[in-house]
Amino acid sequence: MYDKYNRKINYLRISVTDRCNLRCIYCMPAEGIKLIPHQEILSFDEIFEVAKVAVSMGVDKIRITGGEPLVRKDIIILIKMIASIEGIKDFGLTTNGIYLTKYAQQLADAGLHRVNISLDTMNPEKYKQITRRGNINDVFKGIEAAKKAGLNPIKINCVIQESSLEPDAQDVANFCRQNDLKVRFIREMDLETGQFWRVQGGDGGECKICNRLRLTSNGKIRPCLFSDLEYDIRKLGAEKAISLAVGNKPKSGTISKKAKFSNIGG
Ligand code: 5AD
Ligand code: SF4
Repeated sequence: MYDKYNRKINYLRISVTDRCNLRCIYCMPAEGIKLIPHQEILSFDEIFEVAKVAVSMGVDKIRITGGEPLVRKDIIILIKMIASIEGIKDFGLTTNGIYLTKYAQQLADAGLHRVNISLDTMNPEKYKQITRRGNINDVFKGIEAAKKAGLNPIKINCVIQESSLEPDAQDVANFCRQNDLKVRFIREMDLETGQFWRVQGGDGGECKICNRLRLTSNGKIRPCLFSDLEYDIRKLGAEKAISLAVGNKPKSGTISKKAKFSNIGG
C-alpha cells in the first residue's frame, strides 16, 4: 500500500491491551489510567482478522504492543494465530521484560521472531522510581530468557530526556555492548503538545519514511501517533478502516489529544 505522499505502508503495530503491570512516569500517572472497559477490547478473532486483512493488503511487518502485551490473558494463543498468517517477514513484540522469564520460550515456540525490551537505567533504585514499582532484576532475567529462546535481534528501548550522553543512557549503552543487544534511544515525547523526535537507532519519529499503521486495543486504526485520526474496524470493517487510514495518513504529525502511550504502545 502507498499513501498520498508515496510512502510504502507495510508495518502494523497492534496494541493488545491498555493494561500494564508497571506505571512508568513518562507513560502513566501514579494512579494509573482510565481503563478501556473489557467488553470494548478486541477479541483474538477480531485482531486476527485485522492482521490477516492487513497482510493481504501489503503489510509484512507486525509488532505486538500494549500497555504491556504479556499481561493479556492467553497472549501465546494470539501470537500463534498471527504467526500462522502467510507473508509476515518480521514479527516482533515490545515488552517491559518483567514476564519474559515465564514467556520467552513460549513466545518463540509460538512463532514470534523477536522482542524489544524497555530499560532506561542500570540503577535498581532509579528503575523502581521510573517504573514506580518494577524490580530491575526481573528485566535482566527476562533479557537472558529472551536470548536463550533466540528472540533475536533483541533491541533495548531506552527513554532519554534530551541526549544519549546522559549517564543512565550511557550505562544502558555499555550494558548492551557487553551483552550483544541493540540499543535504541527514544527521547521522551509528549503527545498532547506534539513534541516528538526521531528515535536514535530506529525508524520511529521520522515522518518522511514512516511506514506505520496502528491498531488500538479497542479497534481503531490510527495512521499517525501524533494525530487524532482514527478509523473504527467494528464500524467500517478492517479493509475499509485500513484503506481510509492509509489514504488519510498525515504528511507529518502534529498533536494528539486522545492518544495515550498506554493504549497505543509507542
Ligand atoms: N515518550 C517516549 N516513549 C515512550 N514510551 C512510553 N511513553 C513514552 C513517552 N512519553 C515508550 C517507551 C517504551 C515503549 C513501550 O513506549 O520507550 O519502551
Ligand atoms: Fe507499562 Fe510500558 Fe507504559 Fe511503562 S511505558 S507503564 S512498561 S506500558
